[in-house]
Amino acid sequence: MNSSRQTSSSKPADTSASATHENRVCIIGCGRVGMASAYALIQSSFIRELVLVGRSQEQTEGEVMDLEHAVAVPMKPPVRIIHGDYAEAARSSVVVVTAGQATGGPEESRLDLLSKNVGTVRDIVGKLKAEGFAGVLLMASNPVDILAQVAQEVSGLPAGQVIGTGTLVDTARLRGLLAEELGVEPRAVDAYIIGEHGDSEIAVWSGARVAGVKLGRYPGVRALPNYGDLLDRVRRAAPEVVKRKGHTAYAIGLCVQRICEAVLRNERAVLAVSTLLQGEYGIEGVYLGTPCVVGKNGVERVIELDLDASERKGMRASAKLLKDMRKGLPEKDAAQPGRRGGQG
Ligand SMILES: NC(=O)c1ccc[n+]([C@@H]2O[C@H](COP(=O)([O-])OP(=O)(O)OC[C@H]3O[C@@H](n4cnc5c(N)ncnc54)[C@H](O)[C@@H]3O)[C@@H](O)[C@H]2O)c1
Repeated sequence: MNSSRQTSSSKPADTSASATHENRVCIIGCGRVGMASAYALIQSSFIRELVLVGRSQEQTEGEVMDLEHAVAVPMKPPVRIIHGDYAEAARSSVVVVTAGQATGGPEESRLDLLSKNVGTVRDIVGKLKAEGFAGVLLMASNPVDILAQVAQEVSGLPAGQVIGTGTLVDTARLRGLLAEELGVEPRAVDAYIIGEHGDSEIAVWSGARVAGVKLGRYPGVRALPNYGDLLDRVRRAAPEVVKRKGHTAYAIGLCVQRICEAVLRNERAVLAVSTLLQGEYGIEGVYLGTPCVVGKNGVERVIELDLDASERKGMRASAKLLKDMRKGLPEKDAAQPGRRGGQG
């Protein structure tokens, strides 16, 4: 099933002081992920203004200055870097939320962060709403699927306009591993990780292809890749990095840049992001990662992959896990799931 999402961004051009700045992206949370995203974003020629909103005034000022020096290097079109507040943030086409705690070590799961980060996200999105934000909201803070859902509910924005980075980074990791196994570049691999961005995510082996050829039939493959081992390596990828350097940042920074680019350029790119499932895979009212068509209104279409029985079971287990976690949230956060279309 492919679900189309009509959103409300076809609003008339507003030329007032509070109008959305078409090529402005804002990052809220100037830590490691926020700044890796900012650094990736300023490499792109499509962005004209980058707003940083941080908790520490002085540190954010330092980040702004550092980036200003970077964009002054005469290699690319200029980007205006703004040390902003929520009024500036709300005028952005895309606001990226990277605020909140990260896992403290390889044994802490992303879901363990829920109680620590849900209040932060609720607070940030409430402030954006108060300033009239009507653009695309991209959630990166973990646990990203649940927090994207909380953000959607607090914002009142149409579901398509609130996106989680989802399994884009996990999909990149899977494609990288398969590319190595098969002796091709990662862009040649068509394979997806879907479900929770976390330990219950699944790999869609039944649909994995190179040049339209199923993995097992790809010429030159000595043996089928060990699927269980590959999925385990994808799931363990972030904890293995955290074990060695304490955090992850570069891959997610580029994922943020990629999603922002798809929105600002109205690309209709197919990306594995987290979105509200409304019947796809037999799942209702849960944010999960799946390929989506991403354009100027955010998620414009949800693509339901053909899954085999065990993949379908895995996807449902992922949904149940997140649904159960959400039941533990205070009433305020366990609000009604969003509508597919219409501003609200
Ligand atoms: N989606 C993904 O694939 C992915 C990948 C890596 C990390 N993450 C998540 O990203 C988040 C950030 O990770 P990090 O390593 O950058 O952490 P970090 O500690 O380096 O940075 C977090 C930043 O958030 C700021 N912050 C906290 N509350 C704020 C508020 N109310 N307003 C503005 N800023 C606020 C802090 O001051 C800090 O600078 C974590 O939740 C982490 O788990 C997600």
